[in-house]
Formats: sequence, C-alpha cells, structure tokens
Amino acid sequence: MNNGIRKIAVLTSGGDAPGMNACIRAVVRAASGQSIEVVGFLQGYRGLLDNLQTPLGRREVGNIIQRGGTILGTSRCQEFMTPQGRARAAENLRKADVDALVVLGGNGSFQGAHALATECGVRVIGVPCTIDNDLVGTEYTLGFDTAVNVALDAIDRIRDTAESFERLFFVEVMGNTCGDIALEVGVAGGADEVLLPESPTDIEVLCEHLHLGFEHGRRSSIVVVAEGGFPGGAFGVAQQVWMRLRADYRVCVLGHIQRGGSPTARDRVLGSKLGSSAVEALAAGHEGCMVGQIDGNISLTPLERTWNEHREVDRSLLELAHRLTH
Ligand code: F6P
Repeated sequence: MNNGIRKIAVLTSGGDAPGMNACIRAVVRAASGQSIEVVGFLQGYRGLLDNLQTPLGRREVGNIIQRGGTILGTSRCQEFMTPQGRARAAENLRKADVDALVVLGGNGSFQGAHALATECGVRVIGVPCTIDNDLVGTEYTLGFDTAVNVALDAIDRIRDTAESFERLFFVEVMGNTCGDIALEVGVAGGADEVLLPESPTDIEVLCEHLHLGFEHGRRSSIVVVAEGGFPGGAFGVAQQVWMRLRADYRVCVLGHIQRGGSPTARDRVLGSKLGSSAVEALAAGHEGCMVGQIDGNISLTPLERTWNEHREVDRSLLELAHRLTH
C-alpha cells in the first residue's frame, strides 16, 4: 500500500506565491487520509540543509488556507546548488525517515529537486508555485491568478488618477522573463499598450500609437510593462518615450505587492487540487515529476521538461490585446 511511503516531507522554495498555504494544507490532509505522516522543512532548501523541521498534522494546517505567503518560509539557497549541499540534504531526509519529498516552487526549485532525485535517489514531486506562470506542464501556476488580480486592482486605481490628471502612466508588473502577468493584466485592465519579453517593442511605433491616441482625444494612457519587457523596465521605456514625445508621465513599479495578500478562490482551489494530487501521485508510485493541471485535468510532467521546454505566450490573447487597443 502507498508504495512504501509512510512519511513525506514538504517544503516551499523560491519566490513565495499566494496559494502555497492552501497547497500545504492539502498535502497534509491528503496524506493524513492515507495514514502518511508529514513533516515540514522550514525556509526552503536552507531548512533541509540545516535540518529545520516541524511536524505537520491536520491541526497544524487549520486556518491557513486564506493566508498569503507560506507558513513554512522560503529561501533561494545557494548552498543547495552544489552537489555537496544536496548530499547533506539527502542525508537529513534519510535520518528523518522521509520516504519522499514534495517541493512547492518554480523553475529554480525544480532544478534543485531534479538534481536531488538524480544524484541522491530522493523521490520527489514538484508542485508549480510561482506568480510568473512560466512552467511547462500546467496551464496555470499557483499564485498567478492572485498576482494578476492584485495588479489589476492597482491598475484600476492608477487609471483614476491618470484620467484626472490626463497623464501617461507606465506600470511595471513582475513575471521574471515571462509576460503572462502583463498580458492578462493588460487585457483585463484595458491598457493602451502591453510590453512583453516575448514580443520585442519598436519604440518609434509605440510613440506613434501614444501620440495618435492623444491626438484623437485620449485623456490618459496606461502602458503595462512586463519586467524584462523592455531594457530598463518601465523607467527605461518611460525615458525613451519622454525623449520623443515630451509628455508628462509617471512610473509605478508594482513589485512585491503582487506576491502578497490573500489568495483568490481560484488559487485556493488549484492549490488544494495540486497538493492533494501530489500525495496521490507519490502513493501511486510516481516520482521525478511535477503535478499540474491541463484542461481541468491533473497531469504529470517530468521535472526537467517543466523548465527546459519553451513555454509559448498566448499569441491569440496578445493579438487581441493589440486589436482592442490600437
Ligand atoms: O519568481 C517570482 C518573482 O516574483 C519574479 O516575478 C521576480 O522576478 C522575482 O521573483 C523577484 O525575486 P526576489 O523576491 O528575490 O526579489
């Protein structure tokens, strides 16, 4: 039964994402339903190296589903990136009688998990947790929906002041090298322009569009800039536009605001599904893969595919964004 899994460990690693707590709760409760013990490691891979453990039972994960961040804490641990560090981590897992590890994180965390599995034989399952939505093997990563909604709320507010002042605003959103947050927020927020890493910006064309918009009576403009969508981000593009149009502008970098706060219903549901499915997958004998959701169904993808393969931006949404703004 359970393929010899009596005890699993769970940790959260890399950038925290809203919905991680819902996922931890689901891991613990799904495991408890299968009489599998759960231990949490604190501060991501740092906790594996320093043996920072906390037992997780059904009670310990009560009243956390609505909380942002991660109750386990997180880190980007340099030492874990070395084979020596990973060997120490594997040794700590063995000493703790852990049969398998569930890693909640993004591409960097999965690279670490994959190395731990291949070098040290640790059974691992990844759960895609990052606001960036930059992994292959799932339509949405956990935290993306909340980040989009937080950014959208900010843009609605910025629009009020932009319109009152008849100003041009450049709003920078997160996403690392992926433009998904910018694209969704741009479409949902009715932005006048969306600049993405996946679609190079011609600054002359951008200025012409902005100029024509104002000529045709537009009172204000919102340009959503993905981090990585233009050299120098929102400040970089604002400067280039100023040099050409001399239009009064303001820059707003939303930054970590997008990563905090209570998860949306969609992220809570996704976290619950993925956490529970991760335990089921381990109990069914799967390992070395990420549990994701495609077309509403749970899917398993080998860990190395999740970051090695190129994730395409939604071209039809990008075209729609252009059609509706220009
Ligand atoms: O991966 C999530 C993310 O928020 C990215 O969007 C961003 O580039 C990065 O993390 C910021 O990292 P840090 O919190 O270490 O500054």
